[in-house]
Amino acid sequence: MALTGRARKGEFEQDGLAGRLLAWYDAHHRDLPWRVAPSALAKGTRPDPYHVWLSEIMLQQTTVEAVKPYFRKFLEKWPEVTDLAAAETEDVMKAWAGLGYYSRARNLKKCADLVASAKGGKFPDSEAGLRELPGVGAYTAAAIAAIAFGRPAAVMDGNVERVMSRLYEIRTPLPDSKPEIRVFLEAIVPAERPGDFAQAMMDLGATVCTPKRPRCMLCPLRENCRAILSGDPELLPMKGAKAEKPLRRGAAYVAIRDDGAILLRTRPEKGLLGGMSEVPTTGWTARIDGDTGADSAPFPAEWLRAGSISHVFTHFSLELDVYRAEVGAVPTPDGWWWSPVTAVHDEALPTVMKKVIESAIPGATKRRH
Ligand code: ADE
Repeated sequence: MALTGRARKGEFEQDGLAGRLLAWYDAHHRDLPWRVAPSALAKGTRPDPYHVWLSEIMLQQTTVEAVKPYFRKFLEKWPEVTDLAAAETEDVMKAWAGLGYYSRARNLKKCADLVASAKGGKFPDSEAGLRELPGVGAYTAAAIAAIAFGRPAAVMDGNVERVMSRLYEIRTPLPDSKPEIRVFLEAIVPAERPGDFAQAMMDLGATVCTPKRPRCMLCPLRENCRAILSGDPELLPMKGAKAEKPLRRGAAYVAIRDDGAILLRTRPEKGLLGGMSEVPTTGWTARIDGDTGADSAPFPAEWLRAGSISHVFTHFSLELDVYRAEVGAVPTPDGWWWSPVTAVHDEALPTVMKKVIESAIPGATKRRH
């Protein structure tokens, strides 16, 4: 790659970059429940690969704040990877509900099963070995290899891409610039403390080198940063034009029995939100004139419109009209069940379904004491 030369030491000051970043991390790292602080690491505490793996899977496209309570809950329920392997998939799905991307929960369980059965309960300690695990892609393998096993891997998430684009003033738009960023990153990953280096880059991106109004005055790398010299770091990274998400529509039906129980069913194993629970819905269609009325309900009842909700998935946005009806005994096909009021909060309901049920029965998906 033509730009490789720029990544080599020498063209502009890179010496000491990793050291400065690590010194900043020692003083300003975030305390996160899955993290071993640098002072403890220096005294010989090793990060638990199970904790690192679990947190990295949870953190894929989800915020640190959203992940914290889930991480704690998982460790309480399943303190070791072998406990997770011994758990019922359905219980894991329930505990995951709300974190989104349910195929990840399914892969999480598959991965735990494999590590427990074929690897003697131990995670592989190399990027290549980690890549072979279900649900572990390039980013996650690099992150676990660096953080849990001290391998000098180039860990590139969105925060790191932003920091690097600014540091080296990379003007190629994302995602095309990723290979270029990787070349620069590989050149600065230190042999010592690569796990802290990776996390320091992430923390710097999350707290200082933020997308809007970066706090360059506080940045330990400002002397190395080309974007500062160019005047406006906020303009980087450039982004390619995004395709607009298509809109799909449908209707959802919240049937409520005399005792307050709600009718639920399981979604097909394969596909979006596979194996999660839902209230009956129509298909989700891109057609404006799709079936979104009371006539499309799964059985006749006095369906009243309760409102509508919208939800954004990775590949489309969804608007659902929500209907509710109080019903007596209706036949429940296989895979459908009545969820008692006290149990609804504990069902494996994806966020979109929580929105649906809340719009028909406010408070129904919250825990009741
Ligand atoms: N985002 C993903 N993994 C992270 C980590 N280990 N530390 C901080 N932010 C992260």
